[in-house]
Amino acid sequence: TANKTLLLLPGDGIGPEVMTQAKRVLNWLQASGRASFTIAEDLVGGASIDANGVPVTDATVAKAKEVDAVLFGSVGGPKWDKVPFEIRPEAGLLRLRAELQVFANLRPAKVFDALADSSSLKPELVRGLDIMIVRECIGGIYFGEPRGIETLPNGEQRGINTEVYTTHEIQRVGRVAFDLARKRQGRVCSVEKANVMEAGLLWRQVMTKLQAEEFPDVQLSHMYADNCAMQLAKNPKQFDVIVTGNLFGDILSDLAAMLTGSLGLLPSATLGAKDEATGRRPGFYEPIHGSAPDIAGKGVANPLAQILSLAMLLRYSFDMQEDAAAIEAAVERVLAKAGRTPDIAVPGRATISTSEMGDALIAELEAI
Ligand code: NAD
Ligand code: IPM
Ligand code: MN
Repeated sequence: TANKTLLLLPGDGIGPEVMTQAKRVLNWLQASGRASFTIAEDLVGGASIDANGVPVTDATVAKAKEVDAVLFGSVGGPKWDKVPFEIRPEAGLLRLRAELQVFANLRPAKVFDALADSSSLKPELVRGLDIMIVRECIGGIYFGEPRGIETLPNGEQRGINTEVYTTHEIQRVGRVAFDLARKRQGRVCSVEKANVMEAGLLWRQVMTKLQAEEFPDVQLSHMYADNCAMQLAKNPKQFDVIVTGNLFGDILSDLAAMLTGSLGLLPSATLGAKDEATGRRPGFYEPIHGSAPDIAGKGVANPLAQILSLAMLLRYSFDMQEDAAAIEAAVERVLAKAGRTPDIAVPGRATISTSEMGDALIAELEAI
């Protein structure tokens, strides 16, 4: 493949630790002659606040827009608890998503055979589980106006956030979900609170119309978000693709992650619309976990979510299907050989460190 440009944003906490392991995989791809990348790296989150006073600089945003794909680590941590809300580390991530216009966040929750016993659910409930959560990522209550904290005449304060979705925003994420379902089991479950919120009611109406007009071959069902959380814990294998808004998608994907054994395993891809003129489509890739302050600096974080996010990047932004599959297969082999960071430990068995997990993965890749 021709030279692809890539921006790495490791961030804070375990972000740089797991990104180091993903870089080893990038090096392997290049050293084995499978690809050639031009790789830039930049600060984001708390690291950028410390250096630049803001969680992401205009220059970094510009670079992110220029490159073919962005690989992001994680941001945040107690060190920045007291910085003003507008420039907290997480605001850098939200700004990047919004500026790149990456509206569809794909969060696959797949159970590796070797880990069926690591789930907090009974193994028979999760063995073979393969769900795709499509989370709308640049709208909803995360971005809706009005928002803020205001002081009322009586001196009391009021915090305000607003759930807003337009027809267009619902349609574009809906199309991504229906398209994915066509390549899977052909079923989409659309999740909202149409019983309580007008934005949810519109969501349901738009999804219903979209399915009828453009995706009659895909089966569509609807579920209230609270019931969906319950159903995910009760019988997760009933789902194929779940499509939902920003906040519900955030919460339900953490729940789905735990079904697979650990938050440290789940990657994500956030995609924008294809530019018809250039053929380019913005792609932003990040594990769904955060900076894990409780284990940061200890060298025990699981790097697989970051590495699997790189595999998603190769698949969706670079069309390198074989290499993405090779990385995923190597992850499976490492897990089958009981390579375990503490988050997926087998009781009574030794665990390995972040870098040893990287060693094991590279060894599997080199054995291809
Ligand atoms: P978290 O995802 O950082 O951690 C939750 C729990 O999961 C912790 O016990 C942590 O140790 C564990 N965990 C997470 N990733 C792991 C990994 N790779 N290996 C092993 N264990 C792992 O969520 P939190 O504690 O609620 O948030 C911590 C900080 O991260 C906050 O500042 C939050 O805003 C931020 N955050 C950032 C992102 C992101 O950058 N995309 C996502 C979520 C949270
Ligand atoms: C995630 C995170 C982010 C989100 C935060 C850190 C802004 O929880 O990516 O899941 O809520 O989108
Ligand atoms: Mn989250």
